[in-house]
Amino acid sequence: MQNPSSTISALLQEHRRFPPSESIASRANARADLYERGREPVGFWAEMARGIDWHTPFTKTLEWNAPWAKWFIGGTLNASVNCVDRHLADGRRTRAAIIWEGEPSVPGNIGGEVRVLTYGDLHREVNRAAHALRDLGIAKGDRVAIYMPMVPEAVIAMLACARIGAPHTVIFGGFAPEAIRDRVNDCGAKAIITADGGYRRGNVVPLYDNVAKAAEGAPTVQKVLVLRRVGEAVRPVTLKAGRDVWWHEALDAAPTSICPPEMVDSEHPLYILYTSGTTGKPKGMLHTTGGYLVGTMATARAVFDLKDDDVYWCTADVGWVTGHSYIVYGPLANGATCLIYEGAPDFPDKDRFWQIVAKHRVSILYTAPTAIRSFMRFGDAFPARHDLSSLRLLGTVGEPINPEAWIWYHEKIGHGRCPIVDTWWQTETGQILITPLPGVTTTKPGSATFPFPGIQADVVDEQGNPVPLGSGGYLVIRHPWPGMARTLWGDDERYRETYWSRFPGIYFTGDGARRDEEGYFWLLGRVDDVLNVAGHRIGTMEVESALVSHPSVAEAAVIGVTHEIKGQALAAFVTPRAGIVADDRLIDTLKRHVATTIGPIARPDQIFITAELPKTRSAKIMRRLLRDIAEGRVLGDTTTLTDPAVVADIRERYAHTEA
Ligand code: WTA
Repeated sequence: MQNPSSTISALLQEHRRFPPSESIASRANARADLYERGREPVGFWAEMARGIDWHTPFTKTLEWNAPWAKWFIGGTLNASVNCVDRHLADGRRTRAAIIWEGEPSVPGNIGGEVRVLTYGDLHREVNRAAHALRDLGIAKGDRVAIYMPMVPEAVIAMLACARIGAPHTVIFGGFAPEAIRDRVNDCGAKAIITADGGYRRGNVVPLYDNVAKAAEGAPTVQKVLVLRRVGEAVRPVTLKAGRDVWWHEALDAAPTSICPPEMVDSEHPLYILYTSGTTGKPKGMLHTTGGYLVGTMATARAVFDLKDDDVYWCTADVGWVTGHSYIVYGPLANGATCLIYEGAPDFPDKDRFWQIVAKHRVSILYTAPTAIRSFMRFGDAFPARHDLSSLRLLGTVGEPINPEAWIWYHEKIGHGRCPIVDTWWQTETGQILITPLPGVTTTKPGSATFPFPGIQADVVDEQGNPVPLGSGGYLVIRHPWPGMARTLWGDDERYRETYWSRFPGIYFTGDGARRDEEGYFWLLGRVDDVLNVAGHRIGTMEVESALVSHPSVAEAAVIGVTHEIKGQALAAFVTPRAGIVADDRLIDTLKRHVATTIGPIARPDQIFITAELPKTRSAKIMRRLLRDIAEGRVLGDTTTLTDPAVVADIRERYAHTEA
């Protein structure tokens, strides 16, 4: 859960409000009307579905057999046609679809290399890539993993997969070989699309090498397609004959004709995206085609007020759901112009984001609270160096935003002019579910405000009864929505169990929330063992399994501790095996071990070595107690502990480590 001090400050801010801004008056009346129409979700979503091009029209909007949903039954369509082809006919052939900026500075330029792909260019490249995939033997239904830097080809690869009906599974470029292998094996990917490397904070991420290692233990992988991003001089790679093919060679060999799109059933899998849960292995959330496109298109349009002259920048990585829904499918289905930036926000200097906003005249910026808190810390001078007058709308996602950060974002970035949309949603939900509508909703700093039209969100107690306004509980969603995940890849039972069993027939989000007296939703963080570190979801069990896979470790417990910038940070308590010397070297080794097993995002900030972990009589690790210890709080009730001496021991060592 969120730290108590920021909850208190949220309470204090509850009465500070920002009425709808004049600058967003466009289409505001139409948006206000959405709430009215959204009272009846099935009809509402059927209406939203008219924004999509269907090859065969659907005959029924929803078939709901909790927890199994089918949307837009009988409809057939293709996602790449909706995101690209149809815009050629609506006058967007020469309009920018993607404006890309690379990380390394180019002498004589402001910032880095720029590539602009019009919708016409995107169409050509998606068709070439789709042909190339078919030539490599990829067919409808085959899974394709994508492990790419933030370059236009990542989007092209996703859309090419969609064009031929091959579900993609994008793996965040920060994951280590073992994490890639787990995901590839879980979904049985036939091919992996990757690059020689990608730039991140001045370094080259060895993407191909990681894939090559992962592929060793991945028997289903027959082909690896490799984009040359950084080049031979920067990162030489030796392709494996028979398996690996250069992206440029495969595309050059492809026919220049249009690659006929596979018109798929509305419920055909569009992609699988792995996300952390409460067990040791990540879960493959399955998203299907029709409902997902309707959900992302409708929300992108209403929440971001997308217009033809906007330059829209979502700073997420395509490896996360935010990148899928709000860099690729939602905005492109709307024919928007999307900025994509390859690298880190603080490279080469702490004003890189603001330089990009000014250089490309970005009008809509969608980023994470962690980034905003880092910018606050860097100081006001960095945004002040640049002309941010092009901005008209700001968004946040991924974690609760504390009111202080909200206000800073509003004042220092939006100059008091730009509404802020704090959007709550999840990998599971596919689309934004709780958010203000710009120009309509009076916002309160720190509150995601109200459910999107057509969404029935509620806050309930342990028994599933709605709590009165003013109190807190579990956030649930009562009615299905089109962008919802349909199941976990290959594990229907776990899907039902995780999300639909706690309150039968109702979707359990895993988040805590409260509603204030006026019905505003305030998100309070996770109520399960999932952590949110810098907006990235990390399962405590995943990190624990990585730690105990090290030969020095007997037992490990991982918890989240409050962190000023990242929201939460990882702390691990580790019991070494007998005879292992517990010293700083061991701590360093274990931190590195986690980074090389899962990826640097899962590296614990702190590791405490302890002779034993505090457990209840039923052998459950007392996480609450560990959190108290790690955060230096007075210990709570310890009477259920088998051995209170363990706590004293942990406390003593903690004091020692801190010194
Ligand atoms: C958290 C990211 C508060 C929440 C789109 C959720 C938020 C988890 C917000 C999903 C927000 C996301 N306010 N918390 N606006 N947005 N979260 O799957 O705990 O990476 O359950 O999806 O992030 O993370 P995921």
